[in-house]
Amino acid sequence: MKIGVIGTGSVGRTMAARLAELGHSVNIGTRDPAATTARTEPDGMGNPPFATWHAEHQDIALATFDQAAQHGEIVINATGGSGSLAALTAAGAENLQGKVLIDISNPLDFSQGFPPFLSVDNTDSLGEQIQRAFPEVRVVKSLNTMAATLMAEPKQLAGGDHSVFVSGNDADAKASVTTLLESLGHTDVIDLGDITTARGSEMLLPIWVRLMTALGTPIFNFKIVR
Ligand SMILES: NC(=O)c1ccc[n+]([C@@H]2O[C@H](COP(=O)([O-])OP(=O)(O)OC[C@H]3O[C@@H](n4cnc5c(N)ncnc54)[C@H](OP(=O)(O)O)[C@@H]3O)[C@@H](O)[C@H]2O)c1
Repeated sequence: MKIGVIGTGSVGRTMAARLAELGHSVNIGTRDPAATTARTEPDGMGNPPFATWHAEHQDIALATFDQAAQHGEIVINATGGSGSLAALTAAGAENLQGKVLIDISNPLDFSQGFPPFLSVDNTDSLGEQIQRAFPEVRVVKSLNTMAATLMAEPKQLAGGDHSVFVSGNDADAKASVTTLLESLGHTDVIDLGDITTARGSEMLLPIWVRLMTALGTPIFNFKIVR
């Protein structure tokens, strides 16, 4: 399948690499490919410069946001939450129209330092904001409640025995995303309901960041026992 990944941070890179490894044709999108390629310093999270990563993943084409969206039959939003609406606007409604958009972003505001707070919560969510801004796109919120490496390779923790959520208005889109998640190794996909249920998964982030501090690692996940 052709997949367009919007975002070059650790989520974009990790998901792009894993999906390419599984045989998908993947483009990874950035605002300015030349500027992204020219960076020589690690990013704010300590990830190596994009070019270092890309040298080992030359099967993945670096593209602009709109080219990556155009390429994808499924598109993944892996941009910082404060920039997601701008990034998807640059990707172009016409390139996203009718497609499944897997929204991994979180509305985290780091302006007051760490821990971040949610810039939208309780009565709205970033997933809903994206769905409202792009009514012709089939938005499925998923994977935002775990570290990038676990999104892509869940079996590295507890044999994959942990949970992932999907929220979205379109049942067929959620079924497609569930199939893709299962191909990555996810075994417990929980359908929370329509896109308003993204409020629930996004509002897990305040506890997620505190668990990361308490446990001293991002390699953990929620397992819903029932
Ligand atoms: N890191 C994790 O393990 C993890 C886990 C769960 C969820 N998430 C969520 O996944 C998303 C991606 O996280 P990340 O850590 O991979 O990367 P990130 O640093 O949060 O985002 C990097 C991407 O966002 C784009 N971007 C940032 N500001 C923008 C703006 N104003 N306009 C347009 N694009 C903008 C950047 O574009 P350029 O390429 O042009 O620089 C880059 O591609 C975030 O929403 C995060 O909360 C992350």
